[in-house]
Amino acid sequence: MTATFPGWIVRKDDGASTATLEDLDDSILEDLDTTIRVRFTSINYKDALALHGRPGVVRHTPLVPGIDLTGEIVQTSHPRWKAGDVVTLNGAGLGEEHHGGLAGIARVCGDDLVAVTEAFTPRQTAAIGTAGFTAALSLLALERHGLDPQDGPVLVTGAGGGSGSIAVALLASSGYRVVAATGRPDRLAERLSGLGAAEVIDRSELEQQTRPLGGQRWAGVIDSVGGSVLAGALATLQHGGVAAAFGLAASSHLPTTVLPFILRGIALLGVDSVRTEPALRQAAWERLARDLDPVHLDSLIRTVPLSEARTAAELLLAGQGTGRTVVEVTP
Ligand SMILES: NC(=O)c1ccc[n+]([C@@H]2O[C@H](COP(=O)([O-])OP(=O)(O)OC[C@H]3O[C@@H](n4cnc5c(N)ncnc54)[C@H](OP(=O)(O)O)[C@@H]3O)[C@@H](O)[C@H]2O)c1
Repeated sequence: MTATFPGWIVRKDDGASTATLEDLDDSILEDLDTTIRVRFTSINYKDALALHGRPGVVRHTPLVPGIDLTGEIVQTSHPRWKAGDVVTLNGAGLGEEHHGGLAGIARVCGDDLVAVTEAFTPRQTAAIGTAGFTAALSLLALERHGLDPQDGPVLVTGAGGGSGSIAVALLASSGYRVVAATGRPDRLAERLSGLGAAEVIDRSELEQQTRPLGGQRWAGVIDSVGGSVLAGALATLQHGGVAAAFGLAASSHLPTTVLPFILRGIALLGVDSVRTEPALRQAAWERLARDLDPVHLDSLIRTVPLSEARTAAELLLAGQGTGRTVVEVTP
């Protein structure tokens, strides 16, 4: 018997992609080992692109968008899991190559699932989502390179956005002095200070740093923005400093030279949350559970029903999103 459930689906017609909310049935689901009743997902930048038919995320159609999901296992043949387990999944092709989290039922591969930790509710877990997972992967990458709170301040760019906000909170609660760079300091300074930022700067300070070497200000950088903001951040890293870059909210270009690399010995680490090994997924979630204060998280969350997912995504496309938007898929 086929079961129906509500879900967003991206279809292509005459070359144009459109996302619509429909009643889907489980005959569209792939033949994978674990079926999940999705409780929550979230709106990441990639989801905003997919929900508005923009290119670059959805690899084939028809496809359910949503690069995250949090929910309960209904049925599984995977040895690590059983029915009733509450799990979360970030990336791993969800919403890009495989049907994603913006629908009531998902079928996924159990290898990449992570159990929802007792530290967070399922809603908080969804609020962390790919944004917070990537912030944690970035911090782990910086620390594997040797970064320590004693080394100096850490700059977070795109600090008002989803990944940036969680990076600020996670770094601060891990003992780092955080400098938050935002394009909206007037509006967001108080909120970012509340998350633990010691200083809030206007991102124009970084954009105006057009020379490849400037004053040495930070020991580390977590960047979700790219473009002239990242170039300015690299130019102002201390000697031996390290940056983790994972986003292109401003641009995929990087207008710099080799000078900060060869004269200051800085490092630029790329972070890809999609194809992360299961052990590193687990490590990132353990770090979040240990250091991210759920109270900070709650101050970042707004929840919308499934029907409002596309409207909620508009703010992210306009560069005006703040914090994290959770989508309640199944009440
Ligand atoms: N590689 C990965 O695995 C991975 C994982 C997660 C996210 N990402 C990428 O990371 C980026 C951020 O994702 P997100 O979900 O955190 O998005 P988001 O919530 O929309 O946050 C992006 C933030 O970037 C800043 N921004 C926007 N437009 C800008 C511009 N033109 N110039 C400079 N800054 C700008 C804004 O912050 P302020 O107003 O505070 O400046 C905005 O809130 C996206 O490009 C996303 O695709 C990649």
